[in-house]
Amino acid sequence: MTDKSKRPATKLIHAGLAKPKNGEAFMSGPSFASTFHLSGDIDNANYQYGRFHNPTWTALETALEELDGGKSLVFPSGMAAVAAVLTSCVEQGDTILLQNDGYYATRAYAEEFLSKFGVTVITCSTKQLLEQDFNDITLTFIETPSNPLLDVVDIRLLAKKIHACNGILAIDNTTLTPLGQQPLALGADIVMCSGTKALNGHSDVLFGYVASKNEQMIEKIQQWRKLAGNIPGPMETWLVHRGLTSLDMRLERMTANAQVIAEYLLNHSAVKEVRYPGLVNDPSYKTASEQQSNFGFIISFDLVTQANAHQFLANADLIFEATSFGGMHTMAERRARWGTDDVSPGLIRLSVGCESIDDLIADIESALNQK
Ligand SMILES: Cc1ncc(COP(=O)(O)O)c(C=O)c1O
Repeated sequence: MTDKSKRPATKLIHAGLAKPKNGEAFMSGPSFASTFHLSGDIDNANYQYGRFHNPTWTALETALEELDGGKSLVFPSGMAAVAAVLTSCVEQGDTILLQNDGYYATRAYAEEFLSKFGVTVITCSTKQLLEQDFNDITLTFIETPSNPLLDVVDIRLLAKKIHACNGILAIDNTTLTPLGQQPLALGADIVMCSGTKALNGHSDVLFGYVASKNEQMIEKIQQWRKLAGNIPGPMETWLVHRGLTSLDMRLERMTANAQVIAEYLLNHSAVKEVRYPGLVNDPSYKTASEQQSNFGFIISFDLVTQANAHQFLANADLIFEATSFGGMHTMAERRARWGTDDVSPGLIRLSVGCESIDDLIADIESALNQK
């Protein structure tokens, strides 16, 4: 329904909705059908069986296609989307390059489940990515900014190097969403995003999607989804589509709040180091300014010891201690508690929400100053 030239904030609200007839809802509800009437030749029906297609998926996939600029496929979680890409794009004997400072479950999936089928998994840090030799690497799957340390890599440059060696570049865009960064326009072959985070934004749904301009890759990933049965429920899909309509407003508040909080933390004596791509002296600032539309809503900062980090989280009233990000509510965790990331014992990953900035600063100040 939307004109492709419309701005993202407008597309978000209108994309994927069919023009209603008189008396029809313009936001129709989810379609719960598992089974569709299918008579005669199978090519005559858009919908055949609920594991293959669903009208609620189509509405959201159409919206995401407009936002990302590539055909999109929805999944029941971010990890389902990661698994779909990793499994569909490589064969026995291929090599995958992942970050050692990116989301650990992506590495764990590849190392635990793909290595045994003869796929070699290698890793490097975000900072080392542009120095890699991409000969013999079939798929490079990375996130930028990395999570939780927020290093950024130049996607355009990385795509050029990878394509010169006939490789595939997939970007996990979870922390920024298509409003914050457009990996396909920057040259990546595939973009993937966990919709569990800011895309849905209300901490009540698990979801994921993949998008690509490459028809062959999308067909392979779609075939994997259909045969593995790794499909999202209509209700979750509909909730994510509803959440999408407010993404621009939520991100505007979250990123503005994050900038103020990062600057506040930078000047606090209890904080050893702050990483936020929007701080002018942050190592990520220059590249983030060039390739992102905003600096995101995640800040990481180091309170040096485990005890200081626990104390801060216990003292804060408005910050939920939780292992996720991107919701309306501000949340944080001491990342080293999982033992999966190579970070300081006092490192806090803070996901800034939509609360009033004055209240957040007052709460953070009181939590840092209380003993
Ligand atoms: C960067 C990133 N990618 C993917 C995922 C996986 O998403 P989900 O939890 O929806 O499976 C996460 C989850 O935290 C994440 O942080």
